[in-house]
Amino acid sequence: MADSPLPRRRPLALDAVAALLVLGVLVGGLPSVAANLVSDINIKIAQEQGPNTCVIEEVPGTEHKIWTECKYWADRDVCGRKAVVRYDCCEGFSRVEGQHGCTGVLPLQDVVKTAGAAGAARFAALLESSGLADQLRAEGAAFTLFAPSDQAMDELTSSQLAALRGARADNPVLNHHVVANKQLSRAWGADQLLPSRLRGSSLRVNKYSSKIETVNCATIVRKDQEASNGVVHIVDTLLDPERSTYSDLSTAVVQDGRFRQLSRLMQRSELFNAMRSHNQAYTLLAPNDEAFQKMPAARLQRLENDDQAREALLRHLVLPHPVCLGAVVGPHRFPTKGPERLAFDCDARGVSVEGMRFGAGATADMTLAADGFLYMLDEVPLPNRVKTLLQLTQDERLYSFGEVVRAAGLESLLDGPGDYTLFAPSEAAMASLPFGQMNRLRADQGAARSFVMLHVSRGRILTETITDNQVAQTLESDSLRLQVYRKSYGVEDALVERADVQGLNGVLHVITKALRAANATLEETLRQDANYTTFLRAMDRLREDSANSLEFRGSRTAYTFLVPSDEAFQRLGVTRLKQLLANTTLLARTLKNHVVDDMVGTESFRENLQYAVPSRYGGLNVTRADGRLKVNDATVLTCDRTNRQGVVHYINKVLMPPDHHHHHHHVTVVAPSVPPYVTQRTQVHWEERVEERDESDQDDDEEYVDPDLGRVDPDLGPLPEVYRGRERAGLGQGLGQGLQEHRYREDRVGPRHYQHQQQHNVVDQRHQRNQYHQQSQHHQRHNAARVQHSTHHYLQSGSNNY
Ligand SMILES: *[C@@H]1O[C@H](CO)[C@@H](O)[C@H](O)[C@H]1NC(C)=O
Ligand SMILES: *[C@@H]1O[C@H](CO)[C@@H](O)[C@H](O)[C@H]1NC(C)=O
Ligand SMILES: *[C@@H]1O[C@H](CO)[C@@H](O)[C@H](O)[C@H]1NC(C)=O
Ligand SMILES: *[C@@H]1O[C@H](CO)[C@@H](O)[C@H](O)[C@H]1NC(C)=O
Repeated sequence: MADSPLPRRRPLALDAVAALLVLGVLVGGLPSVAANLVSDINIKIAQEQGPNTCVIEEVPGTEHKIWTECKYWADRDVCGRKAVVRYDCCEGFSRVEGQHGCTGVLPLQDVVKTAGAAGAARFAALLESSGLADQLRAEGAAFTLFAPSDQAMDELTSSQLAALRGARADNPVLNHHVVANKQLSRAWGADQLLPSRLRGSSLRVNKYSSKIETVNCATIVRKDQEASNGVVHIVDTLLDPERSTYSDLSTAVVQDGRFRQLSRLMQRSELFNAMRSHNQAYTLLAPNDEAFQKMPAARLQRLENDDQAREALLRHLVLPHPVCLGAVVGPHRFPTKGPERLAFDCDARGVSVEGMRFGAGATADMTLAADGFLYMLDEVPLPNRVKTLLQLTQDERLYSFGEVVRAAGLESLLDGPGDYTLFAPSEAAMASLPFGQMNRLRADQGAARSFVMLHVSRGRILTETITDNQVAQTLESDSLRLQVYRKSYGVEDALVERADVQGLNGVLHVITKALRAANATLEETLRQDANYTTFLRAMDRLREDSANSLEFRGSRTAYTFLVPSDEAFQRLGVTRLKQLLANTTLLARTLKNHVVDDMVGTESFRENLQYAVPSRYGGLNVTRADGRLKVNDATVLTCDRTNRQGVVHYINKVLMPPDHHHHHHHVTVVAPSVPPYVTQRTQVHWEERVEERDESDQDDDEEYVDPDLGRVDPDLGPLPEVYRGRERAGLGQGLGQGLQEHRYREDRVGPRHYQHQQQHNVVDQRHQRNQYHQQSQHHQRHNAARVQHSTHHYLQSGSNNY
C-alpha cells in the first residue's frame, strides 16, 4: 500500500498534459495546472472502473455533457455549478457480461450509421432521406462528419427547419457538415480551417485549455467516433452556413447595418487593415449603435476626434484569438490587442464580458467569417484610455479622494473635456491624513476645492517624460516637484505607486501621500518646528562670511536638508561646539554635509538596503528600517517636512564631515582610501584633511549635555526674538563655489529639450544611489509578473499557434 503505482496527484487529462505545458511555454506563461489537479479519490475511482472506461462530464440540470476520451479528470465548476464525473465505455468499446470494465470491441460502421449510434439519429436520418448518405458511400472515400446531436436538432429555428425540409443530396446545410478525409481531433491545431463539402465554405475548429473543442463555435460533445469510411464528431448545435456568409469581419461590420458607429470608427483605423494582411483569425466584440448612443455625446465626439482614444477602444474590442463562448467555463481574462485584458465569466444565464451579457438568454448574437468571430454587444467595453479621470478614480477604488472631489463640486472637471494630470492619493494615503482633516474636507467646499486642485496639473505628464526635480504647476499655481528615483517616481514627498493610467481627459498617477502646498520657506519651517534653531543660526552665521556662506537661489528649490536638533548640537560638547561655530571653514563643511542636492522623501528608500547619498560635502549612508530612516549613525526624528527649498528631515546627531577626524589618543593618521562617492571637488578637501589631526576633542562619543548650558549656544548668544535671515530669497547667499551650480530648474513642464541638459547629472547621482535596490526589485517584480502570467492562461486555445 506504501507505493502507489501512480503519482500521488495527477493533472487533468494525463494525455494532454504535455501539450498543455508546451502550449504554456508558447503563450509566454504556464497554465495553472495546479487548479486542475486530479484528487487522489478521483484517481482511485477511475482505477476501479476497469479497462477502456472514459469520463463523461456533465452538469446536472444543464445541457453541459461532454464525453471525453480521458480516464482521469479533475472535479471542476462549469459556469458556477459543480460538474459531475461519470464513467462509460470509451469510444468503440462495450461491456461484456461478467467482465470488469469495457472489454468488448464494437464493429465499425459507416459514418452515417456511426452518427446514428452516437446520439445523432435524427441528423443521420436526414442524411439517409436526402440521399447524401448513399452518395458518400458510393464515393468510396473517407469523410469527417460533424453531426448535430438529437438535442441540437430539437432546438432548430423555423428558418433552419425550412432549410432542411425535403432536403436532397445537394442540400447546403447538410453538406456544410461534411469534410473530406478522416480528421481525428488530435491532428487539429489550436485554430484550424477545414474546407467543408459545401463549396466555398469552411469550418473552423478550435481547441481550448478548458478541454473544450469546438467547430464553428459549436461544442463537440462526443469526438472521434471511428467509422469504416471516416470519423464522426457529435456537436451541440447545427452548423448553419447562413451564419457565415461574410468573407471577413470588417465587411460584416460594414454590411450588417447594426454597427454604423463602430464601422465609422473602424474606417479610420489601421488596425483592421493590418489584421487582414496578417491573415490572423480574431474575435471582435461589436457594440451596436444603441450601445454607442448610451455614451454622452461629447465623449463620443471626442472619441471620433482623438486618434489615440479611438485606436485604444478598437484594440480593446479585438481579442487576437478566435474565442468561442462555449469554451468559457469560468472566470478568465483574455488578452486584447490593447494593453488591458477583458474579464469573461459565465453563470447559469450565460457568458458575460466585463459584466456585460452576450445577447439575451444563453445564446449570443454571433457572426462567423473566414477570419474569426463577431459578437454583438449592447454596451461598449471601455479601455482606460476611453474613461474619464473620474471613472478611473472609481475603477482604482479611490473612494475617499472621490468623496473629496464631490465635496469640492469638481466632478465635472475630472469628468469633462481637457487634458490633465491627476496625482490621486491612494485610499491608504487618505486614511493617514491628520486627524480631522477628512471631516474638514467633507464639510468645507473651499478647502476640498484647494485640496483637489493641488493634485491636478494641466496637460498629460507621463512618467517617461519626467526628469528629476521637474516642476509641475497645479491648477491653483502651486508647484509640485517631480522626482525620478530608481524604478519609481515621486511627487513632492510622495511616491507614485501606480503610474500612467491614461484616460480620455488625462493621466492618473496614484500616489502614496496626500500633497500639501509647500509654501513655507526653510527658515519658517525650522522656526515653526521648535528645537531646530541652532542649524538656522549657524547658517545665518555663515552668511556673514562671504567665502563660506550657503546660498539657495530661486524661490523654490529641491534640496534635502538633514537638520540636527538643538540637542544634537549641544551633545557635541561645549568646546567642540564653540570651535565649530567659531571656524567658518569647518562650519561650512559641516553644514554642507547636511545638504543633499536633490529632494529625496522617506518613501523613496526601501527597507533593508543601504543607499549612498552624496551630500554637498561628502557622502552619506541612508538606511531604512521599520519605516525609520538612519543617516550614517543618526536617526531621523521627524521626516518629510516639505517647504519651498525642498524637504527637511530632522536628525538626532550632527553629521561631521567625513574628513573631520577626532582622536582620543594621538595616533598617526594613515590616509584612508577615498570613498567611492567622493567627487572631484570634495576629493581635494579630503586630501587636504588627511594630514590634519584634531586633538582637541575629549567627548565626541559621549552623550554630553551640559545641564547649565540650557538653551544658550556658547558662541551665538541667546536666541533672537525673530530670525534675522532675509525673507523669501532663501537663506543668505553663496553656499561656496561648488554650490553655485545647483541643479534646480524652475522651468515648467514643457519642451523636452529644456530637460535634457540636466538629465546627465541626475543619472550619475542616481546611479550610485539605490543600486542594490534596483536588482532586488527587478527580481521580485519579474517573479511576480511570472506568477501573474501563469494564472491568466488557463483558457488558452489550442496547442500550437499562440
Ligand atoms: C502658495 O503660493 C502660491 C504662489 O506662490 C499661491 O498661488 C498658492 O495659493 C499658495 N498656496 C497656499 C496653500 O497658500
Ligand atoms: C524641545 O526640547 C525640549 C528639551 O529637550 C523639550 O522639552 C521640548 O519638548 C522640545 N520641543 C519640541 C517641540 O520638540
Ligand atoms: C578651521 O577649520 C579648518 C578645517 O577643519 C582648518 O583647516 C583650520 O585650521 C581651522 N582654523 C582654525 C583657526 O582653527
Ligand atoms: C558608508 O558605507 C560605506 C560602505 O559600507 C562605507 O565604506 C563608508 O565608510 C560609509 N560612510 C559613512 C559616512 O558612514
